[in-house]
Amino acid sequence: VTTLASDIISDLRTATMPAHEVLDQLIMTADPFASRQQYARLLTMQYCLQRDFEPLYDDAELTAIIPQLKTRSRQSLVEQDMADLELALPATEVTAPQLGEKKLPEKLGWLFVLEGSRLGAMSLLRRAAALGLSGEFGARHLAGDGSVPAERWKSLVQTISGLPLDESERKEAAAGAQAAFEHATALARKYVATERHA
Ligand code: HEM
Repeated sequence: VTTLASDIISDLRTATMPAHEVLDQLIMTADPFASRQQYARLLTMQYCLQRDFEPLYDDAELTAIIPQLKTRSRQSLVEQDMADLELALPATEVTAPQLGEKKLPEKLGWLFVLEGSRLGAMSLLRRAAALGLSGEFGARHLAGDGSVPAERWKSLVQTISGLPLDESERKEAAAGAQAAFEHATALARKYVATERHA
């Protein structure tokens, strides 16, 4: 039974591993810690990402399931980072996902992705320090609220693993996670990637 319960997380990881690799490469190839200008591109992508995923943190169905969901949101932190670096906030895209209209398992897949994106944040924060950025200036969204990222992740994984999702709901969750990565990749191509492909 415990093996079955943890399957949903391995499903989500397996389904998104190639997409994560592409995104990681896309971001790191752009050398976002070479200068504050380059960091500004990554930050703008992060701003759009938080903004577009934010409805998840106010979602009634998710709030009923995930403990202290709203406290996981980093939107206000990333907005302060944008203000610290005096960056203009880009307008919302017409292609922004309509998360409120998605089914619960799909929303779980999207949440899995944005919360998972914090697992790389500590390493990014260390590199941002070389640019004079920190949890007090410009890299607040990477530092987070002071809670331990690994603990927050573990708690989310435990909650999702404990949900009684049937086979088709698991597939919906995996599809949601893949769609979330597609959205993140589109934002990375638009705001971070320096190489332009025809
Ligand atoms: C929008 C989604 C995501 C973005 C933009 C993203 C981005 C990144 C980047 C750029 C790195 C590299 C950091 C470095 O080179 O030091 C990274 C590392 C990592 N990511 Fe993601 N990621 C996302 C989602 C996820 C998800 C869903 C998971 C887990 C299921 C995950 C797990 C990890 C782990 C374990 C690392 C390595 C952390 C470390 O070495 O400290 N990421 N991520």
